[in-house]
Parts: sequence; C-alpha cells; structure tokens
Amino acid sequence: MSLTQPIDAADAASPQTGWRTVEPIEVCRAAMQRRPFLAKHPLAEHPLFTVEALTRVAEAAAKRPGDLWADAGDLSLTDKWGSVPEPDMPIPQLIDRIETAGAWIVMKHMEVDPRYQEVLDGYERFAREVAGPELSSRLSSAEMLAFVTSPRRKTPYHFDAEMNFIVQIHGGKDVWVCDPNDRSVTTEREIEEYYGKTISAGTYKKRAEEVAQKFTLLPGDALHVPSHGAHWVQNHDGISVTLSLNMEYSHWRCADIYFANYHLRRLGLSPRAPGRSWAADVAKGATVGTMRVAKQAAKRALGR
Ligand SMILES: [Fe+2]
Repeated sequence: MSLTQPIDAADAASPQTGWRTVEPIEVCRAAMQRRPFLAKHPLAEHPLFTVEALTRVAEAAAKRPGDLWADAGDLSLTDKWGSVPEPDMPIPQLIDRIETAGAWIVMKHMEVDPRYQEVLDGYERFAREVAGPELSSRLSSAEMLAFVTSPRRKTPYHFDAEMNFIVQIHGGKDVWVCDPNDRSVTTEREIEEYYGKTISAGTYKKRAEEVAQKFTLLPGDALHVPSHGAHWVQNHDGISVTLSLNMEYSHWRCADIYFANYHLRRLGLSPRAPGRSWAADVAKGATVGTMRVAKQAAKRALGR
C-alpha cells in the first residue's frame, strides 16, 4: 500500500470489533457531538440480539427496578413519555403479539450480563477511537439498551443528555435528527428543564421538521446522535429491534449549570447559558456540586 493512499475507515476504526464509520474517521471525529453521522456495525446477525434472546433479557430486566418499560398505543410526534398506557399483559406475551400490539418495549442496562458487556466493550473501543483523545476523556459509563417495537410505531420528538449511537438490528426505521446547537429547536429553557425537572422537556416544533436531517436505518446501520440533538423515529412496516449504545458526556459541568439556571429562572432571573461567562459557570458548578455533596452527607447521616 502506498503511504499516501487514504486509510480505509474500516481499518482505522476498531478492526477487531467490526465497527466502522461510513465517512472517513477524521470527518466523523470532527462531527462527533456536533452533527449526526452513519456507521456500520457487526451485530445484526449476532445470536444475543434475536427476538428470543431479547425476550430472556426482558424477563431478567423486569426483575431490576426501572430497567424495563413498555407501553402500547398510537403515539404522535408531539406526545411525551408516559402519554400512552402500560400494557396489561406480561412482557413475553407482549413480545409474542408485537406484530399488532402497537408496542414499545425498552430494556436497560443489558450490560449487567457479561456477554452483553463484551459486546458493549467492542462498541466503546470504536466510539472512543472515533471521538479521539480529547472528546474520549469526557465520555464515560457506556450503557446498552434494546428497543423491541411494533410495525409503524413512532418514538416522539425528544432529546437526550447522552452521546448516543442508534444501532439497527432487525427491520427498518426512519430517524430524524436536529442540530444539537440550534437553539431555535432545542432551546435553552428546554435544556434547563431537562436537567432541572423532567427528561420530557423537549417540545415538538414545526421548525424541527424543516431543519432535521432524515436517515433510513436498516440492519447493520448505526447512527450517531449527539447530546441535546432533538430526534424522533418512525418504524417501517415490520417489527423493529434497535439498540441504543450511549455514553455519558461531561463538559464544563454542563448539567450542573443548566440545573442552576433552571432554578435561577424560576426565581425570575435571566441566567446566562453555559459557555458565555467562565466565572458564572464556575460559580454555578461549584454551588450545585456543594449542594449535591451536602445532600449526600445528609442522606448518610439520616441513614437513607
Ligand atoms: Fe433518544
């Protein structure tokens, strides 16, 4: 090979894991946490991600508080989490009827099983290699979630704090993703509310549909969704199995500053967004950090 020949992205990004970027890795490194981009993954045929295997995962997740969620009903893009009822049947039965149930089943923290942790490790090596040393140092706590969803089912408009890859295993879906830094879509107040009050703070707006990028995911495709990038999903005609492989992202104590701003705004003030004033950011971060430590100490003292 000539030394001037471009390095193939598949070789550059985690050759042992089978993950690769579609665009050159340098392009994706510059885009990570700034805009969505596509990747390829090796998990579509993996025996740990068949519907049968995931039924067992769901049964195990049901025994851990908060690690299994299901709902069934017709949702629109503008709905919020929890706006359709939980199904009145056991999860294995719901999965059996997934073709017609209009259901959305999510199982969290699959990595508690070492077999899934090994798969997650492969993803994490890839994600850190794409991120590069600087961004990688701000990523932590990789997590694996699986979504088993009915044909045509929608996932409403929302945004997340985590850096995410949506990984399509079975079936197809369309995903729309917005620029995470477009504050006319993901507004400062929504981000403040996300960290201060509810993870359902993202509110649909017509402009999001005008500016979002649309991606079609089929088995073998993965899509990077940056933190705070509003997104929504529409399944194709078949059952869909999708993973969310995400990592926590810390930058300038972002969550603490938004938490402080949420409460300052409730007091009638107009707080500055993170990044506008170093001194204000440090003060807010220190205050919230101190409050957290004090709260933890009080809990320990009270034996809770
Ligand atoms: Fe999401």
